[in-house]
Amino acid sequence: MESDFIFMSDICTQIINSLDIADIIGEKVKLRKTNRGFMGLCPFHSEKTPSFHVFSDTQTYYCFGCHEAGNIFSFVMKTEGLNFREALELLAARAGIKLQNYEGTSKTKTPNEILEFTAKFFTSNLVGSQGNAARAYMKRRNLNQNDITKFSLGYSLNSWDSLVNFLSRAGIDGKKIFELGLSLQGRHGFYDRFRGRLMFPIKDITGKIIAFGGRLIDGEGAKYINSPESEIYSKRKNLYLLNDARKSIREKKRVILVEGYMDAIRLHKAGFTESVASLGTSLTSEQAELLARFSDVCYICYDSDEAGQNAALKGMYILAENGLDVRVVAIPDGKDPDEFLTSNPPEKFEDVLRDSKPLILRHIEALKPMLSNLSTRRKALNELFDGLSKLPPENIEPYKAELSYVTHIPPSELNVMILNGFGNAKNSDYVQLRHETKSEFENKIDYDILEKGFCAMLYHYPECRLKIKPEEIYKILKNPVAQETALALLIENFENVQALWISTEDTQKFALIAQGEKFCQELGNINVNQKWEKIYNGLKTNLIIQRNKELREKLLNNTITPEELAELSKLMNVNM
Ligand code: CTP
Ligand code: MN
Repeated sequence: MESDFIFMSDICTQIINSLDIADIIGEKVKLRKTNRGFMGLCPFHSEKTPSFHVFSDTQTYYCFGCHEAGNIFSFVMKTEGLNFREALELLAARAGIKLQNYEGTSKTKTPNEILEFTAKFFTSNLVGSQGNAARAYMKRRNLNQNDITKFSLGYSLNSWDSLVNFLSRAGIDGKKIFELGLSLQGRHGFYDRFRGRLMFPIKDITGKIIAFGGRLIDGEGAKYINSPESEIYSKRKNLYLLNDARKSIREKKRVILVEGYMDAIRLHKAGFTESVASLGTSLTSEQAELLARFSDVCYICYDSDEAGQNAALKGMYILAENGLDVRVVAIPDGKDPDEFLTSNPPEKFEDVLRDSKPLILRHIEALKPMLSNLSTRRKALNELFDGLSKLPPENIEPYKAELSYVTHIPPSELNVMILNGFGNAKNSDYVQLRHETKSEFENKIDYDILEKGFCAMLYHYPECRLKIKPEEIYKILKNPVAQETALALLIENFENVQALWISTEDTQKFALIAQGEKFCQELGNINVNQKWEKIYNGLKTNLIIQRNKELREKLLNNTITPEELAELSKLMNVNM
């Protein structure tokens, strides 16, 4: 017993001598130099003028206000909430002193306590003498001293067993260490999973550490390594920094979702404390539900490389399905939020957020190349309608015009299409028919001049836009470019349409309108109404003549149905 005691006091003296109390306290308290040491605001009571003193000669502290006093052991015990043995283990590790013949913490720790303890060990590595390389890395990534505390950052030593040894000495069972994902099993026993990495503790929504992510600071290996699933960690149910962000998310009524640990940290540092990161996988409905508890709007900033795009869109629909209004953020030059904020002020990021697009519009944009190619159009439409079918109808409503514009499906038919699913046979036939007519027409350069005149009237005279319903367009116009032009003018805001055509250099539509204008002028000196009537009636007559011709052909070929026969006789009555 006595020898134990001597051993213990020896060790304590050794630790006190090799660490500087001012360094340890300085991590928690802002200190100012005095004659005998340092002073600062007392961490043990609240005060405005400093009465907390640190004495370098005795390596002790004393507060003249609340009379708290002690050495580094008591300081770490009190501020970290540790017992003596734990403080000893931590400080010994930090001083690089091995605790021999030492039994370790007697009380069995819960998994959460083990991870908390591990995080403290990592932090002590980072701030200690073995953390030089890691601190240099932090500097390169624009992280400072405060961030260590703020984000509980740490460093896993570049060694095979520093953590395993540390935890074993503290009396933690090797199997438990393994089950919590902190070690791996090799031929000669357990070794550290995280080695030579900057460590990011992952906390649950209550702030308890449940896992770690580790970023390689140099050398070869996976850029990031994460804790595997464990009894306390389910990656599908958690989001990085959610505990720190949840208050801001509520207040700001929005959440910013990013991919990387560093992205989330950078955003928090820039004042976007409503940011969280998904944990390397695609989003789950559990995570979406979690976010929907705090906010209605989600800004999502994901890498938009080709490969990532599909997975990202899938994740976004999961968010939308859970009732979140999803806005897709595109950061200029393909940067991630961390890179962007490292070279731009926060206001610039706010601009980027403002330029975000609603999910549906972003999806349409992503599908545009596929939509404009006949061989991939059906696939694209399938995908689009698949996404739409997951959204609440009220979220689709505002984008009907745009949807109708790109799908060539009249707004009135969109609801049924969404409801039935696009794969449904009837729908598919309808759409198939639509592209066939479209391609056929696209080959013929000269469009029907009446249709062009019709579009020119819609373009120049707002009053004409009130004379016709969008649903009618598909009946009276045959030329797909004219259909698109007219439909856009009827369902979209005029300025938007014009801006869109200009920005996308849609010269086809302007050319069509210009030719139509010429035709309208040639109609002579009559008023707008009269011109409209002439063109509109002309189109209707055309339609009837066409149909008449079609049905007569069927009659001659003997392929006419009773319904069509009835239709023909009706048409002939009108016409003849
Ligand atoms: N990730 C991971 N495992 C990897 C690579 C990535 O778990 N091998 C996760 C991490 O959460 C990472 C995120 O995916 O933060 C995004 O990865 P990536 O874009 O590749 O890296 P960055 O976050 O940009 O990493 P850094 O800025 O540190 O280079
Ligand atoms: Mn990055």
